Amino acid sequence: MASFNTVAGCVLASALFAMVVGKVSDAMVHVHKLEKPALAVSDEAPTETAAAPAATAELPPIGPKLASANAERGKQLFQQQCSTCHTIDKGGPNKVGPNQWDIVGRKKASHEGFSYSSALQAKGGEWTYEDIDHMIFKPQAFVRGTKMAFAGLPKEQDRADIIAFLRTQNDNPPPLPQQ
Ligand code: HEC
Repeated sequence: MASFNTVAGCVLASALFAMVVGKVSDAMVHVHKLEKPALAVSDEAPTETAAAPAATAELPPIGPKLASANAERGKQLFQQQCSTCHTIDKGGPNKVGPNQWDIVGRKKASHEGFSYSSALQAKGGEWTYEDIDHMIFKPQAFVRGTKMAFAGLPKEQDRADIIAFLRTQNDNPPPLPQQ
């Protein structure tokens, strides 16, 4: 009898032990599962993105914002943010930076009489809406080594409004990006 009890006790004890171990390892797995996405994806990304996104690749396309952007507000922003260095009127002079008439669709680093950095000359292609968005978001991230000493505009709405204004300062603006 005693031995039966002992055996039964042992069986019970090890069953309990197994349950406990099971729970503990479950808990460990859970903790692990929770930790991983929190580290990899990071729910705090929006805050970080607004403050200081690391790479320009993180920018969502500006196209959807352009359709409803406010060119009048963009004009004011241009005056505040860009006109220290850029004129926008047709045939206007170069200042610290090149004149911006016809900038959308213009070949990069191509305005006559302006001495561009070799970094921008090497970039190649035309100024699309997206490229301008990246440039005024963070010039140094888009063209490493550019002479454009401008911190950048973190707010998407500000960039969209300015780009909408730039579009009006153009003889033949390219169509807005398809959405
Ligand atoms: C502190 C002066 C400064 C400010 C402010 C500035 N820029 Fe510039 N920008 C430059 C310079 C200098 C260049 C030439 C960059 C190079 O050669 O690398 C440039 C180049 C550019 C170019 C490329 C021009 C081309 O012909 O390829 C664009 C587009 C541009 N700026 C847009 C803007 C806009 C829009 C703003 C305002 C949101 C702005 N910049 C604010 C100095 C400035």
